Amino acid sequence: MELNLIPRPRSVAFGEGVAADMVTKSVEGALPAEGYRLEATKNGIVLTAGSKQGLVWAEHTLAQLRRQFPEGIPCLRIEDAPAYPWRAFHIDSSRHMRSIGELKTIVDAASFFKLNTLHWHISDDQGWRIECKAFPKLHELGAYRNGDHFGTYRSDEKEGGYYTREEVKDFVAYCAGKGIQVVPEIDLPGHVSAILHAYPHLSCREEPVEVVTKAAITTEILCAGKEEVYTFLETLLGELLELFPAPWFHIGGDEAPKTRWAECPCCQAKMKELGLNSHRQLQGYFSSRIVAFLRKHGRRAIMWNDGAYGGGIDPSVVLQVWFPDRDGALDAHIAKGGQVYLSPVVPCYCDYPYGEHPVKAVYQLDLNPDYVNHDTVLGGECLTWAEFIRSPERLQELAFPRFTALAEALWLGDDRDDYANFRARLENIFPVFGEMGIRATPAEGWDPEPEEAKRQSREFRLQFEAESENQDYDALVAAM
Ligand code: ACM
Ligand code: ZN
Repeated sequence: MELNLIPRPRSVAFGEGVAADMVTKSVEGALPAEGYRLEATKNGIVLTAGSKQGLVWAEHTLAQLRRQFPEGIPCLRIEDAPAYPWRAFHIDSSRHMRSIGELKTIVDAASFFKLNTLHWHISDDQGWRIECKAFPKLHELGAYRNGDHFGTYRSDEKEGGYYTREEVKDFVAYCAGKGIQVVPEIDLPGHVSAILHAYPHLSCREEPVEVVTKAAITTEILCAGKEEVYTFLETLLGELLELFPAPWFHIGGDEAPKTRWAECPCCQAKMKELGLNSHRQLQGYFSSRIVAFLRKHGRRAIMWNDGAYGGGIDPSVVLQVWFPDRDGALDAHIAKGGQVYLSPVVPCYCDYPYGEHPVKAVYQLDLNPDYVNHDTVLGGECLTWAEFIRSPERLQELAFPRFTALAEALWLGDDRDDYANFRARLENIFPVFGEMGIRATPAEGWDPEPEEAKRQSREFRLQFEAESENQDYDALVAAM
């Protein structure tokens, strides 16, 4: 008998007959935290898990079995546990604000396929998104921008918004009930126009900065030479830690051109004082201070891998690999005992069309690439950058079912199926998206034929090109 479960469980043994529908649940410390056992017998259905989170996974397996066997579940025994602990999806509330209701719908579906981490991007050039007690201008000013000029889109309407602290607490608790930890990302020291709009004295030049209305890599970044920047960040992060109990905190670090640092007397004085000879090393110093603060508060920091180009990153930091490495920085981090998780743009960036990153490519994500030692890989993540994602439905159709493919890839690791087998199970389970209020991309859109893929690619690239005329991308990357 073929079970139509996603992720496919690691071990299934069938008995005889149909199970009695009487469910009991318990937590048993001897099982792995996310592991569970589901025993369906004529006496009833017993769910046993290593933790409350594991029980959530067991319940989802049971729900999927009920979908396949509405007349009664066959007697069987499932033993299951994930291959990778970091099974994440990313939502960008900065580029376009998402309501808590929209987020919960995505979380429900992600949880149903046993993803366990929401990487929540809540600060960027285009908006700061959380109420702040110590620095209220962050949400009063930094949460709003004068228009939406991403790609070819044109609107001059003021837009934005923020989540109150109460809303965030409730949402984080809701996610925990679904087996999902929420890991916030405050991107530092670049991508901070919204912060600098509220508090311009934190930049090198201290000049006014607007909240950005288009896609951009910006040269106005936090000054690494002024002590008050570090005190500001410690107060800010301290406040955020009250809302986010997860043992992880993402501090960004990507796409930070050091153009201003090169001109800034404070940054230059700091480099001299520390004997640093590159601006990348200065970023290493900057990040390390925040990493140390987070460690003191029981959190491990995560950084985008380009933030580690200059070295000097504590081995406790996990690097999120998205961009090509430079000067062996990744190897150096791993050699010190550092860990990583993988989200290469191809295929993990799900804001790209299916024609570029089809479901098959996500399912077949290489979790053992030659640029990292396999033992250091915690897992992977799919992302939905929201520059071009305005409606909840657009987010849903980009995310699903690619998030579903990632969920099984990370649950099974090297034990993944043939793609055709996964695809058949996905087609069967597809109606569940409608029931969950998710407008997922239908099967004909999962793996577009070359002509259609090209069409999607052209359309998507038009959005990029509409922006690139204002940016010398190569020069910005060189300064990162
Ligand atoms: C990134 O895509 N800038 C991490
Ligand atoms: Zn400076």
